[in-house]
Amino acid sequence: MADKTLNVISICGSLRKGSYNRIVMNALPALAPDGTKITEAPPFSEFPLYNADSQNSSGFPAPVQKLADAIRAADGVIFNTPEYNFGIPGGLKNALDWVSRVQNQPFIGKPVALQSASPGPVGGARVQYDLRRAMVFLDASTLNKPEIFIGYCAQRIDEKTGKITDEQTVGFITQQLAAFAKFIAAHGTQP
Ligand SMILES: Cc1cc2nc3c(=O)[nH]c(=O)nc-3n(C[C@H](O)[C@H](O)[C@H](O)COP(=O)(O)O)c2cc1C
Repeated sequence: MADKTLNVISICGSLRKGSYNRIVMNALPALAPDGTKITEAPPFSEFPLYNADSQNSSGFPAPVQKLADAIRAADGVIFNTPEYNFGIPGGLKNALDWVSRVQNQPFIGKPVALQSASPGPVGGARVQYDLRRAMVFLDASTLNKPEIFIGYCAQRIDEKTGKITDEQTVGFITQQLAAFAKFIAAHGTQP
């Protein structure tokens, strides 16, 4: 394969300032393998609630277009998200609903990796199934393994310093990022 930096973007499903999932997301650039650059996607926090009437009358709000363009241009997308009520947090789901209606839908063929953290024991496993299902509908290519579920995350992530303190967790994430880079290479990058 020709020498090329892989540009991967990360999307955080939590809007909370002290978010554990955001702390994990912030750790990714330093854990990425050589040749992979990870940057945060444009935010979805200003998206209005999806309403087909407003889409039909006013088109897509600029922040929606910006996120869709960033996804389309990226070689891969990583979701760092909490689980809300066994599913995708409303803000993130709303963002996916908007982006899914943009012409030249940006997730088609896009390599996607999932990571979730929760203070509970299951680490967000259920939100990942929910996201996988949405990604099937959007024709993305989601990495199967290794999976990253950070259970009991308050014991593995220090809210005060904003760092992952558990070395095993850091190791698992590093392994997933290496696998994701290979997955992207195997699946091709932008269509
Ligand atoms: C509305 C809501 C629903 C939640 N539902 C779940 C859930 O289904 N499963 C779970 O493990 N944690 C659940 N939690 C707890 C979150 O995992 C916890 O608040 C976590 O810190 C959120 O992620 P963040 O730190 O990245 O913001 C829920 C929290 C909120 C606010």
